Amino acid sequence: MNVNQNFLNLKDSYLFSAIAKKVKDHLAKNPDKQIIRLGIGDVTLPLVPAVINAMQQAVAEMGNAGTFRGYGEEQGYAFLRQAICGYYAKKNVKLNDDEVFVSDGAKSDLGNILDIFSLDNSVLIPDPVYPVYADTNIMAGRKIIYINGNAENNFLPLPDKNIKADIIYLCSPNNPTGSAYNKEQLKLWVDYALENNSVIFFDSAYEIFVQDKTLPTSIYQIDGAERCAIEFCSLSKTAGFTGTRCGYTVVPHKLGALNKLWLRRQTTKFNGVPYIVQRGAEAVFSDEGFAQIKTNISYYLENAKVIAETLKKMGIWFVGGENSPYIWLKCPNEMKSWDFFDLLLEKAGVVGTPGAGFGTNGEGFFRVTAFNSKENVVEAMERFSKIR
Ligand code: MLT
Repeated sequence: MNVNQNFLNLKDSYLFSAIAKKVKDHLAKNPDKQIIRLGIGDVTLPLVPAVINAMQQAVAEMGNAGTFRGYGEEQGYAFLRQAICGYYAKKNVKLNDDEVFVSDGAKSDLGNILDIFSLDNSVLIPDPVYPVYADTNIMAGRKIIYINGNAENNFLPLPDKNIKADIIYLCSPNNPTGSAYNKEQLKLWVDYALENNSVIFFDSAYEIFVQDKTLPTSIYQIDGAERCAIEFCSLSKTAGFTGTRCGYTVVPHKLGALNKLWLRRQTTKFNGVPYIVQRGAEAVFSDEGFAQIKTNISYYLENAKVIAETLKKMGIWFVGGENSPYIWLKCPNEMKSWDFFDLLLEKAGVVGTPGAGFGTNGEGFFRVTAFNSKENVVEAMERFSKIR
């Protein structure tokens, strides 16, 4: 047998696993240290009561012969797909429930979707970016073209007519930078994709954090996007499902064969999300559940404000935090990202994510998340301001 040689082109370990290992090693040497984790974007607030109630009811159903369920539809139960369509309708986006595919999260779908695309396709990926986009294409051996995000364009690169690509990845509000495209900017991408017969993979995992009402929260709010874009979203950040696992992908019929191919792929390789989880997910979109998750989102955004205020006081350049749980800052004193990571961990016991882990253009930058308790964020910022 031969291994997939493309895997040898990957970095040794996935970014967040590498960070987790560094922190573990540090704690082994400093067992009493009180570490505050603002690294991986993992939620800290518990699931909201509406979700818990729905899941408890579903558990009871599963223990009763009359209501027990075995295999469900691979693409998700109709009740959840319809609830998601209802959510999009509030954004003025009309979807059919067979355009929505429920999954265990955006990360899996963003990788798996590549199954239905030819290996010949070229891929355009902003740098810096969520490492999964690049890693999954490296695994498959596709040609990747990077476009530059930088302080000059607020880490929101726009299409370049001289660069052609078949698949374009966009994430807004962005991971890792927290910047968000406005409608005019997204329209440029949609027009570019339509002109070049490309497909946009739009990762909207952080849409719930958008506060500025003028900003789009779905690419389908842009004219023409239903003819060129697949949208990936997740309840991980929206509703605290990082450990519960549920997300969804929208593949519009107007994309031609892609909807059928994705259904074919999913029915073959995926057995669906557990019924209990899907009932919990459905509750997220109820009036009660939605009000509850919005309270949690406000809590995280308050934390983001604390981080932003600290950075402003310290005179450190940053973006993000207003419409996103992520803040992307320039490392003080021209430090390199991993050096700043080590310094912050050693001196302040605070964990963040080195910008270099998100791409070449991330070097010299650093990401902190607002996902923690207010007390911890305040404490982390106090420690942070002292080490400079
Ligand atoms: C992150 O920290 O970038 C995210 O938590 C990773 C993810 O959503 O998979």
